[in-house]
Amino acid sequence: MKFSFFTETTPPLIGIDVSSTSVKMVELSDDGRGGYKLESYAVAPLPADAMADGNVADLGKVADALKLAWKMLGTREKHAALALPSSAVISKKVIMTADLREEDMEAQVEGEANQYIPFPLDEVNIDFEVIGPAPNSEDEVEVLIVAARKEKIEDRVAAAEVAGLKVIVMDVDSYATEAAYTLVAVQLPNGGSEKTVMIVDIGASMMHINVLHDNKPVYAREQSFGGNQLTQEIQRRFGLSMEEAEISKRKGGLPESYESEVLQPFVQMLAMEVARAQQFFTSSTQYHHVDHIVLAGGCASIPEVEVTVQDKTQVHTVIANPFQNMSVSSRVRQAQVPTDAPALLIACGLAMRGVSA
Ligand SMILES: Nc1ncnc2c1ncn2[C@@H]1O[C@H](COP(=O)(O)OP(=O)(O)OP(=O)(O)O)[C@@H](O)[C@H]1O
Ligand SMILES: [Mg+2]
Repeated sequence: MKFSFFTETTPPLIGIDVSSTSVKMVELSDDGRGGYKLESYAVAPLPADAMADGNVADLGKVADALKLAWKMLGTREKHAALALPSSAVISKKVIMTADLREEDMEAQVEGEANQYIPFPLDEVNIDFEVIGPAPNSEDEVEVLIVAARKEKIEDRVAAAEVAGLKVIVMDVDSYATEAAYTLVAVQLPNGGSEKTVMIVDIGASMMHINVLHDNKPVYAREQSFGGNQLTQEIQRRFGLSMEEAEISKRKGGLPESYESEVLQPFVQMLAMEVARAQQFFTSSTQYHHVDHIVLAGGCASIPEVEVTVQDKTQVHTVIANPFQNMSVSSRVRQAQVPTDAPALLIACGLAMRGVSA
C-alpha cells in the first residue's frame, strides 16, 4: 500500500469508517455536473470487543464486518480509503523556506519529526503537505507534518485485506470530517463563509469536536461521551441485553416511561456536553463566538437533539447531511438517507478522495 494522508489522485474507491461499534461504507461517483452522486452505503455492526480505543482488537471480527458491509454495498469496487483516529496521529505545523527542493524538504521534515515524535522513526510513517504561504513571510511556507505508528496502520490494512479489500488511502478521521463538511456547509446561511462552525460528532463512545473558521480548520478535540451511555441506561432500567437495547433505541418498543425518564435526561446531558465544549473552545482560543453548530454521528439521529442543543447553547444548530444536494442512485432507499447520513460523515469524506468532482 502506498501510505499517504494527502494523495490527491486515486482510482474510484470505497470510503470506510471502522469505528467502535460498526463498519460504515460509502461509495460516491462523479455526477457529471461537477458534483457527487451517492451510489450506495452500508453499515455492519461490530461486536463490542472487536475494536478497543480506536485500535483493531480482534482482526477476524473486524474483517467479518468489513466483508458483510462490502457485500451489502453491492459494488465491484475493491479499492478503499480508511482513516486512523486522530488520537493515533501526531500532527504538527512547521514553517519552511518556500523554495526548497522536494528532497531537501523531506530531509527537513525528518529532522523536525525526530524532535517531536516519541518513537524511533523506523516505527512510524510520516507524510507532509504544504498548506500555503506562512502567515508573516513571503519567502516561507507552512507545512503540515503527520505521523502515525506503523502498527496502527498495518492492523487496519490487514483487516481490510483479509476481507478482500485493497487499501489505497490512509487518512485521518478529523480530516475526513473536514472534507465532508464542505458538502454540509450548503446547509448553512451563506455556506458558512467567514463564520465559526463547530462540528460535533457524537458516536457511541466518543464526542469528536472540529471547529472551522471561514471554512478552514482551527481546532480539534475529543472527549469521552456517547450513545453507549444511553444504551447502558436502557439495559439497566429494562433488563435488556446490549443488542436488545441497541435495537429498541432505534426501532422503539420500550415502555412508556422511556421517553421522559431515560431519553430526555440523556438528550439534556448531551446538550450540556456540547455547551461545555463550546465554552471550552471560546475561552481557550482567540475565537470568542460560535456561529453554527453541526451535529453528526449516530446520536444526531435522536429526535429532539437539534432543538435541545440549540436551546442550551443559543447557537444555530443543524444536523449534518452530506448527501442533501447529491443525486442518489436508485439502489439507495432515499427515505432512510437523512436518518443514516449524520453517522456517515467520515465515510463520506473518505469516499470523496476517490472522485475528482
Ligand atoms: N436513530 C437513533 N436513535 C438513537 N440512537 C442512535 C440512533 N442511531 C444511532 N444511534 C446511536 O449512535 C451510536 C452510534 O453512532 P456512530 O455510528 O456515530 O458511532 P461510532 O462511530 O461507532 O462511535 P465512535 O465514533 O465513538 O467510535 C450508538 O450509540 C447508537 O445507539
Ligand atoms: Mg464515529
